[in-house]
Amino acid sequence: MTYNNLHLEQNNGITIITIDRPKKLNALNKETIHELHEAFDAANADDDTKVIIITGSGEKAFVAGADISEFADFEVGEGIDLAAKGQADLFDFVANLSTPVIAAVNGFALGGGLELAMACHFRLASDNAKLGLPEVSLGLIPGYGGTQRLPQLVGKGRAMEMIMTAGMIDAKTACDYGLVNHVVEQEALLPTCEKIAMKIGGNSLVAISAAIKAVNSSFDNGVNGFDVEIQEFGNCFGTDDFKEGTTAFLAKRKADFPGS
Ligand code: COA
Repeated sequence: MTYNNLHLEQNNGITIITIDRPKKLNALNKETIHELHEAFDAANADDDTKVIIITGSGEKAFVAGADISEFADFEVGEGIDLAAKGQADLFDFVANLSTPVIAAVNGFALGGGLELAMACHFRLASDNAKLGLPEVSLGLIPGYGGTQRLPQLVGKGRAMEMIMTAGMIDAKTACDYGLVNHVVEQEALLPTCEKIAMKIGGNSLVAISAAIKAVNSSFDNGVNGFDVEIQEFGNCFGTDDFKEGTTAFLAKRKADFPGS
C-alpha cells in the first residue's frame, strides 16, 4: 500500500513509521489516522517486523494533535463518533497490538499526539520535546484516551494539573513523571530507540505478546489481571519459543527463537 501521509522503512526487524505532514506539524487528520491503522496492522502481521517505532517527520513535532480544521464545525453526535472511531481504529488498536510499539517523541506531542504516544507500549523523547493535552483551551477534553492513559502513567494529580492547565511539560519533566522512559538529544533519538528495539527483538516475541496482554489487562476494569497472567503464563509452556529458550539456557547457548 502507498501512503500519502506516512513514510515507512524497515531494517533489522524494525519497522519505523514516520508521520509525514511536517507543514501541519504532523497533525492527525482523518486520512492519516486511517493510514496509521493500515500501517500498524500490516507491520503487526509482517513476520519480518519484531518491533515498531513511530515518530514524526521534521525536527519540530512528533504530532501537534488531531487536525483542528477537520472538526471545528462538528456537533455532539459527530464528536462522539470521532472519539469512538479514533479510539477503536488507532489508539486502542495500537495499545493492544501484539508487536511491541515504541514512540520516538521528537518534538511537540500535543493532544492526539500525546494520546498516540501514550497508546504505544513505551516512549522515548528528544530533549526539545514538549508534551501536553491542550484540549480544554479549545473547549474540549481529550477524546482519544488521554483522560484514561495520562493518570495511569503519571498519577491522577499530575494528570489533572496537565489537563486543567492545558500546559506543556518539557522532556525532562516528562521523564521525571514517568511519561517517557529516556530523554536523549534529537540526533540520538532513533538510534537509541533502535538499540532498545534490537534488545527486545532478541527475546521471545511470543512471550512478549503474552506479556503485553497481561500488563494491559491490569488497566482493564472488566477483567482480573492476575487471572490473565496465570493463563498467559500457562500458555507459554505450549510454545516452541519456551522449548527453545529453556533448552538453550540449559545448553549454555544463545536462544534462537522460532517465534511460535
Ligand atoms: N491541527 C491543525 N493544524 C495544526 C495543528 C493542529 N492540531 N497544529 C499545528 N497546525 C498547523 C498550523 O495551523 C500551521 O498551519 P499553517 O502554516 O497552514 O497556518 C502549521 O501547523 C504550523 O503551526 P504554527 O502554529 O504556525 O507553529 P508554531 O510553532 O507557531 O506553534 C504549536 C506550534 C504546536 C504550539 C501550535 O501549532 C499549536 O498550538 N497547535 C495546536 C495544538 C493543539 O491544540 N492540539 C490539540 C488539538 S485537539
